[in-house]
Amino acid sequence: MKVLILRNEPAAIERAADIVARTVRDLPAAVLGLATGGTMLPLYQVLAQRHRDEGLSFAKTTSFNLDEYIGLAPDHPCSYHYYMQEAFFRHVDIDPARCHLPKGDAADPRAASGDYEALIEAAGGIDLQLLGIGQNGHIGFNEPTASLGSRTRIKTLTTSTRRANQRYFASFEETPRYAITTGVATILASRKCLLIATGAAKAEAVANMIEGPLSAVCPASALQLHPRATIILDAAAASALKLTEYYETVHPQGRDSAFD
Ligand code: GLP
Repeated sequence: MKVLILRNEPAAIERAADIVARTVRDLPAAVLGLATGGTMLPLYQVLAQRHRDEGLSFAKTTSFNLDEYIGLAPDHPCSYHYYMQEAFFRHVDIDPARCHLPKGDAADPRAASGDYEALIEAAGGIDLQLLGIGQNGHIGFNEPTASLGSRTRIKTLTTSTRRANQRYFASFEETPRYAITTGVATILASRKCLLIATGAAKAEAVANMIEGPLSAVCPASALQLHPRATIILDAAAASALKLTEYYETVHPQGRDSAFD
């Protein structure tokens, strides 16, 4: 794992944007795994700005989002389809025909999950997977005890996740109970992955992911098995780590090491 600790959130987001931009410049037809959540909003803003100011192009990329709530149509303002449209897709030159999210409103969500996994495979797999982390250590909607061998499927959300996401809905009762999410094994199959965590509320989950045991209790700890996982943290999200001095020796201020 490459652990990059940046002094604050804007610096962490700029560093993450550099990695996304480099991937897309090196591989214009990259398959991107995209994530939602509050952490990703400033990243999408920076990428959209680089598109406008520097011509960073997503025209040839394909994207697959991690997850979607079951029961929400794409035009529902709390759906992840809507989030992606508003936060990113409509600000850049990505081809809408190549932007994929699980179909949360499918008549048969189980079949839709299998179809989604097959679509990722047919696209040749994911070149760069973006990830946030839940306060309980989830990635996508792979909640604690999710199978580390899982592929895209339906997951029941924990009460803590529903409470964390309640802020986007009118009430806790209206917050969806189920989601379609790509699995832990789907995420591990990506060629590179980039997890971003900012803020003190993520510090404990981050410490469990990086320095805790590999365990389904913290699904993000599965990234310990990923051969090319980069974790970008701001100082607050890194505050519960024990080996900080080592991470800063290898990557001072989050920069690449001499051998990267
Ligand atoms: C959500 C999403 C995750 C996201 C996480 C953290 O529920 N399913 O993909 O990474 O929770 O969200 P935030 O960045 O808002 O803290």
